[in-house]
Amino acid sequence: MKSKDEVTFDDVIFSAVDAIKAFKEGLTFDDVLLVPKYSDITSRTQTDLTTRLSRNITINMPFVSANMDTVTESAMAVAMARAGGIGIIHRFLTIKDQTAEVLRAKRSGSVIIEHPYTITAEKTVRDAHNYSEKMEVSGLLVTEHNSDKIIGIITERDILFADSSDTVADVMTTDPITAGPGIGLGEAKAILHKHRIEKLPIVDEERRIRGLITTRDIINASNYPNMSVDGKGRPLVGAAVGVKGDFMERSESLLEAGADVLVVDIAHGHSENALNTVRNIKRAFPDCELIAGNVATAQGARDLIRAGVDAVKVGVGSGSICITRVITGSGVPQLTAVIDCARVGRDYDIPIISDGGTRTSGDATKVLAAGASSIMIGSMLGGTDESPGTVLTKNGKRYKVYRGMASLAASIGRKSKETGYTSLDDDLNDYVAEGVEAMVPYKGSVTDILKQLTGGLRSGLSYCGAHTIPQMQENAEFIKMSRAGFAESNPHDVSVM
Ligand code: XMP
Repeated sequence: MKSKDEVTFDDVIFSAVDAIKAFKEGLTFDDVLLVPKYSDITSRTQTDLTTRLSRNITINMPFVSANMDTVTESAMAVAMARAGGIGIIHRFLTIKDQTAEVLRAKRSGSVIIEHPYTITAEKTVRDAHNYSEKMEVSGLLVTEHNSDKIIGIITERDILFADSSDTVADVMTTDPITAGPGIGLGEAKAILHKHRIEKLPIVDEERRIRGLITTRDIINASNYPNMSVDGKGRPLVGAAVGVKGDFMERSESLLEAGADVLVVDIAHGHSENALNTVRNIKRAFPDCELIAGNVATAQGARDLIRAGVDAVKVGVGSGSICITRVITGSGVPQLTAVIDCARVGRDYDIPIISDGGTRTSGDATKVLAAGASSIMIGSMLGGTDESPGTVLTKNGKRYKVYRGMASLAASIGRKSKETGYTSLDDDLNDYVAEGVEAMVPYKGSVTDILKQLTGGLRSGLSYCGAHTIPQMQENAEFIKMSRAGFAESNPHDVSVM
């Protein structure tokens, strides 16, 4: 008889086999297909992509641009909101600069600008020109010194041929046409048309400035009927914060600027750091809509929800530029992670955001069917006009940089961007990268990408016999496929042109 401590070769083999048998299977996008279902849909317009981003925020289509420094600043955030989704401004900026990005996004997509830029009458034409250029506007409202009462308006036309040392008072249009607070859009349009003007200041009875309506903003609003908007008709925009250092001060500044949702951004979201951050932000700003992640397990989702989040972001190592799984050996294939977290999300009525790995509208359909309410995307939006960065040319082809936020390149200078100063003490030899830097083909406007993505998703809903995302989640039936099934799913036996 064997002694208790004696372990044979067979014991080792069999216990390893048992352990492997006990392994849970993890599946991802290319492992499964959705089984087609009867559909009464005769046109894609009969589908509705409205979905919940978080406990209290609804968006009009389920795509969220990633909080990465090569994906989302104000231009991307505005484009995402206009298409019906939302963008999350990345956090690798000083508090001031990140706040300015939120303000810029809120402002550029609004029909009524709440705090229009002003200049005082004694300033020069040169001052007016420089200020307009800096703030990227075509006109300024003119006030008296130390007052917010309007006395004029100065636009590009007024200063075009003026002497730069003239004063604003010399060239401005005095007594501009104005309207009172509470004016409707139709009425504003009629006034702008009647007087052939482009800017309509909103003033109270004492002519104190209360806002500004411009023709450009009215046109924009009618061009984007699907825009995700806040209570004031401005584009929805989110912003990311970290779990260390200035995150409380940053949260306060971003919320004050009008950020509709904050995202606690940490690679390992099932951690004490993340949970504490969630509790601290929720305690200080109880009305703040708060997303946190990333997690990849039911327990991770449950712990974040119990800490107080309004949505859970799911995905560890699934992103196109991620090497977390290579470096740490950790992660869960994305569809399984979403299915596990969505079960918990349903119990608490908290939406799940799938983050990373989505490459096509087919992937998007699968992950929504698996229980995600929305999808954060990075690489699909990198390389567009609206993503930060310049277009590079290599061998006659155009590219933009898209990089992981834990890549070496992103970490160089990250501190200087966050804090506003550069330190030569940072020892990069100690840095262990969990992301890569890549070039993605230049793709033009993000609007076209989103049209393809939402069009494909609408067809995906129809194949599931569903008019809405929740209906698809009810109807969805997944089938696991073999390697041969996967090969068959892609173009084969032809030379693709
Ligand atoms: P996609 O696949 O859309 O993924 O490009 C975007 C998501 O990837 C995550 N991300 C990273 N993950 N190392 C990682 O392991 C990184 O350096 C990194 N940077 C971004 C992030 O969740 C993003 O939304």
